[in-house]
Amino acid sequence: MNSLSLKKISKRYRIGNEEIEVFKEINIDIEEGEKIAVMGPSGAGKTTLLHIMGTILKPTEGKVFIDGIEVSSMDDESLASLRNEKIGFVFQFHHLLPEFTSLENVMMPLIIKGEKGAEERAKESLELVGLKGRENHRPSQLSGGERQRVAVARAIVGRPSILLADEPTGNLDWKTSEKLLSLLLKIHKKLSMTTVIVSHSRKVAEKCGKIYLLDRGKLTCCID
Ligand SMILES: Nc1ncnc2c1ncn2[C@@H]1O[C@H](COP(=O)(O)OP(=O)(O)O)[C@@H](O)[C@H]1O
Ligand SMILES: [Mg+2]
Repeated sequence: MNSLSLKKISKRYRIGNEEIEVFKEINIDIEEGEKIAVMGPSGAGKTTLLHIMGTILKPTEGKVFIDGIEVSSMDDESLASLRNEKIGFVFQFHHLLPEFTSLENVMMPLIIKGEKGAEERAKESLELVGLKGRENHRPSQLSGGERQRVAVARAIVGRPSILLADEPTGNLDWKTSEKLLSLLLKIHKKLSMTTVIVSHSRKVAEKCGKIYLLDRGKLTCCID
């Protein structure tokens, strides 16, 4: 079964009387456990595409399927619970809560869901990203790379079936980027969640194996 499918997805943004078409009739099928990279120039619509995949943005036209379920007919509440259950996000900026420690930030999604064993699971998740010993640090007390690791730990703590990362290494120096990417690949290997990594770095994308290019409104698979 496909983990994630987009069928004839179009997206237009309306600003005042003007409409901007970002892309038109995009199709993609991503199998369970597959990892892919999406590349494309700035402004091509990569973030828009990832947000549609993650159901935080609705397409103007077309259908999104997650584990075979068509999501566009779902109400906001069911959609939010499906998202909490199945999807983990890593954004370009870490979006950690500054007043909370690493451990508390990672526990947050589980607490919101009312799940048991949040602390234990958050500790495990931090260990998995190599941050054992940093549980009580606040974001401002961590390096940029470490903050992104906490963000990864938070994204995977609920064991989502799909991990979506939007230029997760975009604000890091090259060496730190390499390490973060290796971490994402290691996590993919260990937990085999379907993984989509948006990157404008060819070097990063090549490590994912399968590369899609989003440009001028079209999505094409360029390396398989
Ligand atoms: N909320 C929005 N309202 C209007 N236009 C938007 C909005 N978000 C993005 N855009 C426009 O859509 C296009 C694609 O943006 P984005 O998905 O952020 O591209 P990328 O991530 O590839 O840089 C850009 O031209 C951008 O200006
Ligand atoms: Mg973007």
